[in-house]
Amino acid sequence: MKKIVILISGRGSNMQAILEAQLPLTVAAVISNDAAAGGLVTAQKHGVATAVIDHRAYPDRAAFDRALSQAIDAHAPDLVVLAGFMRILTAGFVEHYGGRIINIHPSLLPSFTGLHTHRRALEAGVKVHGCSVHFVTPELDHGPIIAQAVVPVLDGDDEDALAARVLAQEHRLYPQAVAWFCAGRLTITAAGTVELNAPPDQHGALVSPALES
Ligand code: GAR
Repeated sequence: MKKIVILISGRGSNMQAILEAQLPLTVAAVISNDAAAGGLVTAQKHGVATAVIDHRAYPDRAAFDRALSQAIDAHAPDLVVLAGFMRILTAGFVEHYGGRIINIHPSLLPSFTGLHTHRRALEAGVKVHGCSVHFVTPELDHGPIIAQAVVPVLDGDDEDALAARVLAQEHRLYPQAVAWFCAGRLTITAAGTVELNAPPDQHGALVSPALES
């Protein structure tokens, strides 16, 4: 059985979705950079070991990343899963986990990298928005995309309504992507794209607003 370590900074609802998806894998540990992260309590309730590596206790990013990777590597995971982990990671850290570290981002990458994605989507007036799971590379929010889920942006949406609609899809998408990785079904091509080594079950398109028949 493959082993994963999940990194969180806060609420941990994506972590919870992975824990509750009953995937054929072992969650070896949940690690947070913040002792106040609500997700730590959720992980403990699920019987998962937790640890805190507080970034404020280290003089710089490199020192924090060294401590973090020591804590991760103690579990020898096959995959590191960033689930709302809100620290920028050094290139050395990311390269150490090359091809076995993934992230979920609340936008349809490459649009809206960085923060405040829902507000920026509303300001841009896009009609569809969503979330992306991608391999992590040193450039923030730019790694090879594994899977995306799309939601409509509805008239009258505010940031909270749109965030909630996207988050519901994050909770479906991330466990699926983790399961694909752990089943050995993801290949990063020479061109830097990701292939799923068997076709997905559905090839439907989403068009928003819906087309009229
Ligand atoms: C999620 O929406 C996730 O996509 C986002 O933070 C939230 C964490 O929620 N991640 C990023 O913005 C990373 N750049 P959660 O703690 O409830 O999973």
